[in-house]
Amino acid sequence: MFEEAQYFAPVAANEDGSVTVQLAANHPGFADPVYRARRNAIAALAVGHTKGDPIPHAEYTDEEHEVWALVTRELAAKHHKYAVTEFVNAAEELGLPTDHIPQLEEVSDLLTPLTGFRYLPAAGLVPLREFYGVLADGYFHSTQYIRHHSVPFYTPEPDIIHEVIGHGNTLASRRFADLYRVAGRAAQHVETEEALEFVSKIFWFTLEFGVMNENNELKAYGAGILSSYGEIEEFRGMDIRPLDLAAMGATEYDITKYQDVLFAAASLNHLEDVVGSFWATCDDDMIDKLRA
Ligand SMILES: [Fe+2]
Repeated sequence: MFEEAQYFAPVAANEDGSVTVQLAANHPGFADPVYRARRNAIAALAVGHTKGDPIPHAEYTDEEHEVWALVTRELAAKHHKYAVTEFVNAAEELGLPTDHIPQLEEVSDLLTPLTGFRYLPAAGLVPLREFYGVLADGYFHSTQYIRHHSVPFYTPEPDIIHEVIGHGNTLASRRFADLYRVAGRAAQHVETEEALEFVSKIFWFTLEFGVMNENNELKAYGAGILSSYGEIEEFRGMDIRPLDLAAMGATEYDITKYQDVLFAAASLNHLEDVVGSFWATCDDDMIDKLRA
């Protein structure tokens, strides 16, 4: 329901060095001054962070840890039904905590031995080229805040449940991690903004909202579906189209609602052959031809 670098609440740096997260009036936490103060403090951690340093510790309330525990439990059950086997196995290997929100440093320490990935903290919007570019070096930008506790199964923006349960479990798979890496190399390699946007749309329709066939059933591997309590129940009823680079690049999407057009790979091998090979070899000319 959201895209990195597009759907984050704006973050403003104040003259006194503090940081203000500008939540929209319809955000579930808008009228909660304690939540808003915590959002500001958590965003400030990322603003002051330098790559290579440990990620600063974010404070969460007991209510927020309970949200994590509840959503983790519910999603894990749904993953067994709806997620590709590669994801389920990777999640089991990663072994995220189920009773408390893990610190990003903690998740990085679990991920690194498996695939070499580590997290970087993001206050909010990260420019596309930066967000995707660092994937090539095994870094993944993540927000640290969690959704408002009043609506545990809803978030209008990517929170730590999306970033860690969705992307983190996926990044624990060597095969998926390799796809993230080549997506990053593509983003580093292409020159024009149009080509970069094309690369990011392929990411959106695959690693964010991708589905694939497995034993004659449609399963999800996209982090956006796998971290959404509602969307994971709905994806099979959407307009499912065959995996096609030009079509993905030309399809518009609305980040504020469930994705109604999805692209299905025939298998993980098929995804690697089509999308992995594209990211590994694409340049501006190739993308111009696909866009034509
Ligand atoms: Fe995401």
